[in-house]
Amino acid sequence: MDAIFEKVKATAEEINDYAIGSLEELEQFRIKYIGSKGELKNLFAGIKEVAPEKKKEFGQLVNQVKQQAEEKFNTIKASLGNESSASSKNSIDLTAPGEPITLGSRHPISIVKNQIIEIFSRIGFTIAEGPELESDWYNFSALNMPENHPARDMQDTYFIQQDPDIVLRTHTSNAQIRTMESQEPPIRVICPGRVYRNETISARAHCQFHQVEGLYIDEKVSFADLKQALYYFTQEMFGEGTKIRLRPSYFPFTEPSAEMDISCLICEGEGCSVCKHTGWVEILGCGMVDPNVLDNCKIDSEKYTGFAFGMGVERIAMLKYGINDIRLFFENDVRFLEQFTGIN
Ligand code: PHE
Repeated sequence: MDAIFEKVKATAEEINDYAIGSLEELEQFRIKYIGSKGELKNLFAGIKEVAPEKKKEFGQLVNQVKQQAEEKFNTIKASLGNESSASSKNSIDLTAPGEPITLGSRHPISIVKNQIIEIFSRIGFTIAEGPELESDWYNFSALNMPENHPARDMQDTYFIQQDPDIVLRTHTSNAQIRTMESQEPPIRVICPGRVYRNETISARAHCQFHQVEGLYIDEKVSFADLKQALYYFTQEMFGEGTKIRLRPSYFPFTEPSAEMDISCLICEGEGCSVCKHTGWVEILGCGMVDPNVLDNCKIDSEKYTGFAFGMGVERIAMLKYGINDIRLFFENDVRFLEQFTGIN
């Protein structure tokens, strides 16, 4: 055998054994054997020295080795290429720890509304709801506020342009009227929901807010029952030892009427800016249901009496959590909302 044939075979073995572990080494391999100045090119050039009858055999042999080198190059390139793309950002690493999912939190108004509902449900109140778009009758007239009654001005009202008989309800008392119309006493309901008033928006007032109103109608319901129910609510909501005080007031649908204050949670009655140095903060309106209202709902006012109360959920939440601006509830800034994570 010619020495040049031996050289080709030795190169074939070398190619076979050549260890390639990285793309860099692969490139070195390509330059050494396959490239335009590579060894195989040199071997081809050696064909000049080969005897004419062996030129064909020699050519085939070198071609074979060249193919072998190219195959090795392509196979390794493919496998190294896969590895490098596996670590690129498009692919998924199934072994990586999962990304944490940020949990939302309940809105503070929902939290406080649910707490109010829960406290009253423990003493036998069930939920009654009514529409937010309401007729004049359910929002005003049935509640002892006939047309042109001055008390209507107590609640600045949004009217519907197409139909002056329809309003955005100014309180959830509409649900109380609807309940009294459709149920026989004893009635014991609370009416949570959104209400609207044409108020200038400020830190203390908003044109939309939430209420929970309550109604209890039965034989011999007294003012003492009202006071006890509200006292129970206060202790559960704001903590034992919170004092209450009832001040005479006026609502067209209750007689007598009162507003209830609680001892200031911030200064515990000492006097501070929240309670305007009085030691007390107002939290709700209440009273004994006016017999006219019972009559409007076809409930015998000779036989039955009842009490009613109504509170603003935002106000309760502001006192409970020390929030000083009602607008925060409607802006839905996550930095505000996420402080209530984990509270139900
Ligand atoms: N409906 C009254 C309001 O929205 C609150 C209230 C309810 C007062 C029941 C007394 C009795 O202002």
